[in-house]
Amino acid sequence: MRFPEHFLWGAATSAYQIEGAWNEDGKGVSENDEKFHRPEYRENGDVACDHYHRYREDVELMRRIGLTAYRFSLNWSRIIPEGFGRVEQRGIDFYSRLVDALLEAGIRPFATLYHGDMPIALMRRHQGWLSTETCKYYGDYAAVMFKALGDRVRDWMTINEPRNVAQEYREIGDGAAGVVVAEHRMLQAHALAVQAFRSSGRLGQIGTAISTGVAYPLTTSAADETAARMAVLHDMYWNLDVLYKGSYPDELLASESMRSALPDGFEADCAVIHAAGSDFIGFNHYRANWAERADTPMGYRFVWDRAVPVKELTGNGWPIVPDGMYHTIRMLAERYPGVALYITENGYADSYPVSEPPMLEDAARVSFMERYLTNVHRAIAEGADVRGYFYWSLLDNYEWGSFDPHFGLVNVDLPMQKRTMKQSASWYAATIRNHGL
Ligand code: BGC
Repeated sequence: MRFPEHFLWGAATSAYQIEGAWNEDGKGVSENDEKFHRPEYRENGDVACDHYHRYREDVELMRRIGLTAYRFSLNWSRIIPEGFGRVEQRGIDFYSRLVDALLEAGIRPFATLYHGDMPIALMRRHQGWLSTETCKYYGDYAAVMFKALGDRVRDWMTINEPRNVAQEYREIGDGAAGVVVAEHRMLQAHALAVQAFRSSGRLGQIGTAISTGVAYPLTTSAADETAARMAVLHDMYWNLDVLYKGSYPDELLASESMRSALPDGFEADCAVIHAAGSDFIGFNHYRANWAERADTPMGYRFVWDRAVPVKELTGNGWPIVPDGMYHTIRMLAERYPGVALYITENGYADSYPVSEPPMLEDAARVSFMERYLTNVHRAIAEGADVRGYFYWSLLDNYEWGSFDPHFGLVNVDLPMQKRTMKQSASWYAATIRNHGL
């Protein structure tokens, strides 16, 4: 089962989850630095995988696995510590060295501008993604990065998982309306980055890293069928329709609470966002969902626990639904014909405390990857233009609150900072060598 000639075999990480060095070389305090220093979190990303100091070793691991692409994120607060104004050259130099090391190893760098971590000053002064000021500063920051790295980085992603980020604004903003506004602002920010990229004259492509996946009806009842249709519109198409069609899906705008939550003049914003567009759809996909009829603004609710008709779970309890990958790709390819697709994240976690011996014989991860990739191949064979796959994650890393979920191809012994390749890394290396399964 061979993949198309130029198909990329990647792995992904994000800055806060691996870099550490949270207060070095002039870096500003970020939203995660503040959040995870709160007492309710027993672990944080202050040191994480110490990638900031060990990136050469990590690139060497990637080379040994044979990765042809690597997705990482830039930490905004390393570059513009206060969110606007002064640019910290030492932060830029770090990413510049990383990019050089990747290119020397023959690995194509895919850089994400924002992976859930902004300078805290923008949260305090401007309520983060609730304001257009933050969007503007994000556009300025993007322009700095295109200038600094755009001679070597040709592949950019704007904002990781806007839907998930927006959930945080339920409390910061006006309840559910805060979520809708934050997501809309992130689309505006995306457009500003795309405009900055186009006017930088740099070569390459810039696109999304949304989180998405097919939703199936929980039962065969007409009510659940409708719920699943609404879930798909909201979970898969809400943002992408604006980028590729210029407006939010009509069926969802018919919901008074959605429409009234959107900022005044959102239609005109959508026209601007559509004009900027997106060169590709990058999407993170972990699991398919089941939806049932519920008394919510859009008439659906995802079913997380009981009743999900799949009993096989990952080590951290997520349903394993390899077909869901196939259906997700097919649906995106059909709704947005002619748009290149990248799977910017997909992965399997084992869950255990870091004090326990690492699970290096990770047959379950291998089986997960094999089955998900088989479904990627199936969609490609039927005509979908999928250009690459990024396994999440290269390293066992800080999983937003704890180190217990282990997603890595490579184990990291945290006290010793010792890296050990798992069985899955060898399996992936062989798959890459064969350019297929
Ligand atoms: C995020 C990662 C996260 C992963 C596993 C994705 O939602 O982009 O930062 O570690 O899922 O939970």
